[in-house]
This record gives sequence, C-alpha cells and structure tokens, in this order.
Amino acid sequence: APAGLADRYGRRATDMRLSLTDKCNLRCTYCMPAEGLEWLAKQAVMTGEEVVRIVKVGVEQLGVRELRLTGGEPLVRHDLVDIIAALRRNHPGLPISMTTNGVGLARKAAALKDAGLTRINVSLDSLHEETFTKLTRRPFLDQVLAGVDAAWAAGLGPVKLNAVLMRGINDAESPQLLAWALERGYELRFIEQMPLDADHGWTRRNMITAAEIRGLLSRDFVLSPDPRERDGAPAERFEVRRRVAGTADPEGPVLGTVGIIASVTEPFCSDCRRTRITAEGKIMSCLFSREEYDLLGLLRAGAGDAELAQRWQDAMWIKPKAHGMDHVGLDAPDFVQPDRSMSAIGG
Ligand code: GTP
Ligand code: 5AD
Ligand code: SF4
Repeated sequence: APAGLADRYGRRATDMRLSLTDKCNLRCTYCMPAEGLEWLAKQAVMTGEEVVRIVKVGVEQLGVRELRLTGGEPLVRHDLVDIIAALRRNHPGLPISMTTNGVGLARKAAALKDAGLTRINVSLDSLHEETFTKLTRRPFLDQVLAGVDAAWAAGLGPVKLNAVLMRGINDAESPQLLAWALERGYELRFIEQMPLDADHGWTRRNMITAAEIRGLLSRDFVLSPDPRERDGAPAERFEVRRRVAGTADPEGPVLGTVGIIASVTEPFCSDCRRTRITAEGKIMSCLFSREEYDLLGLLRAGAGDAELAQRWQDAMWIKPKAHGMDHVGLDAPDFVQPDRSMSAIGG
C-alpha cells in the first residue's frame, strides 16, 4: 500500500488544500491587479464530481486527514454547497474548512453548515470602509462583517480572521482590529505579505515583519506564547492581555488569542504538512514550487485511483525543502517570484 504523501526531507502531507476556482470578486492589492486576471476557461476547472474523486483518492489512498477549500473565492462557485454535501457523504469524519473573503457569506453560512462544512476562515484586513476599499478595491466591508457574524451564528466557529498588513495602509489599525476580534471571540491572525501578488510590487523592505507586528500590538497589549502545541500550523499563537499604560506589565484576564503567520521572516517549511490542488487540478507541493503535476488530465484520461495516487506521491516527493524567502537574496535580482498570484495557486 502507498505510504502517503511523503517527501525527501521526511515530511508527510496530511493537510490538503483544494482551490475550487481562480475567480474572485475582490481585487486585494497583495494578490490581484486592479483589472483582474484572465480567468481559466470553464472546461479547464475541476467539476464538482472531479473534486469529489480527487479528495477520495487523497483520503482513502494517501492519508489526507484534513481538507481546506480555497479559491480565488470559493463562494463564487454555484455548486459549492453540493460539493460540500458530497464530500461530507463520502467522509463523515473529515474536517472540512474553507478560506473565504466573506462576500456573500451571510446569505450562505447556514446552508454551508447544513451541507457539512466544519469551520471557516475569513480575510479581514480593516474595519474602516475607506481602508478596506483601498486594499480590496471593492466597497464590500459591510457584507464581509455580516458574513463573519453569520458564520459564527451558523455554528461555523471557531471563526479565524486573516489580516495581511500593508505598510501605510492598514498597519496602524492592527491594535484596533485585534481589540474588535477579541471582543467577539474571533481568532485574528496577522499575516506577513508574501511575494505572490500579480503586480509584483512586493519588496522585503516594505513588508511588515512579524517582529514589527508584535511591536505594533504591544502598544496596547501584552502577548505571551500560547502553551498549546503548534502542530504544523502556520500561525504562531499568543495569549493576549491588556497592558498597564506606561509599563510592560499585563493587567486583567487573558482576552483571547492572536496568531502571527510569519511565512517570510520565521518560515515553518520544515514542519509543513500541506499538499495543494489548484482549480485546474494540478498538484502543487508548495506555494513556491516550480513544477506542477497535472492530476486532472490524468483523471480525465481514465486513470484509476492507484495511478492518480502514484502521480500525487511523485509530485510531493520532490517538494522543495524551503522557499528561501527569508534569505537576504530575495531582494537580489536572481530571486524569481512565482508566475502565479495567490488567487491562482489557491490561498
Ligand atoms: P487553520 O489554522 O487550520 O485554520 O488554517 P490556515 O491558517 O492554514 O489557513 P488559511 O487558509 O486561513 O491560511 C492563512 C494564511 O497562511 C494564508 O493567508 C497564507 O498567508 C498562509 N499560508 C497558507 N498556506 C501556506 C503555505 O503553504 N505556506 C506558507 N508559507 N504560508 C501559507
Ligand atoms: N501574502 C500573504 N497572504 C496572502 N493572501 C493573499 N495574498 C497573499 C500574499 N501575497 C491571503 C489572504 C487570504 C488567504 C487566502 O491568503 O489574506 O486570507
Ligand atoms: Fe480575492 Fe483572496 Fe486574492 Fe483578495 S486575496 S483578491 S479575496 S483571492
């Protein structure tokens, strides 16, 4: 029997991330260009049935233990609820989560829960209309806020929120964003921007680092390491308490948890447990892997489960050891940013 999704460096991928579409209804500056991207042709994208088949191979043949649906924006798929229901029928005990921008979520949260979705992460970079619109280039803040609350009310919690901090745009708002999330019991994670924007505007110097994020938050809060196991998660978690003004001392109870996802300055590649399938059914062993193995083409050519599993294993075996983004060389002319943006790889 196949030994799961192992690689040359002794890691084993058990977390599967599957992109349901490359399309999106926002245009976040750290991801998409203002004019959007050329979407994949409909025939190039996995059908619901193909998604279900690929997940089945992952779970039954290769030891996948967790599934996350991503995009683009997964909510733009009209058959999303049906796909989740079919996945749930096949895999009653599988954790199935989704990462979404929250647009249109308020209307769909209950149906997603009923279909069998386990939990949800929502991107939320700002609570200010103007900042939100500048960052996402769309005026949908109210919809996203309603979506977050609806997800919580529908039982899709614990709700996690993702905020990418951009210098001079939303970085100064970070303590306020955290206070807001803590009040409502949402787990906010601040994310270092990675060079995955279609505009190629990323620079190491302009990026807000994890160290800076901790500094920004320490104006109002005291962070102490969360004692729970990190367990391969990208976020380093901290317990949060209020700071006594003018001192380094905490006051009062733990208010909740904040996460920092330091992909660039404190990479976690050696503990990575991820395998990704793009919307066009290609296997990516890493956000930054250069090779893409076509799984969907093989499936459409009539391959059996064993053959699909073998290709997936081959793709994962050559997973790069690390992305190398933390090296100083990143600013040097020889660093090549991946051709695809985050939306096309799958958040
Ligand atoms: P949970 O903690 O299980 O809820 O999920 P998650 O944090 O893995 O999922 P989510 O999709 O919310 O991802 C949060 C952020 O982690 C993304 O916005 C990325 O910035 C980062 N991330 C996701 N996958 C990878 C990866 O494979 N490598 C790196 N370096 N960062 C990733
Ligand atoms: N760097 C880091 N995170 C990114 N995301 C999108 N683009 C980038 C980037 N360049 C995040 C979004 C969303 C998730 C799908 O990916 O904030 O939460
Ligand atoms: Fe859309 Fe997500 Fe990219 Fe924003 S980060 S443009 S919400 S795919």
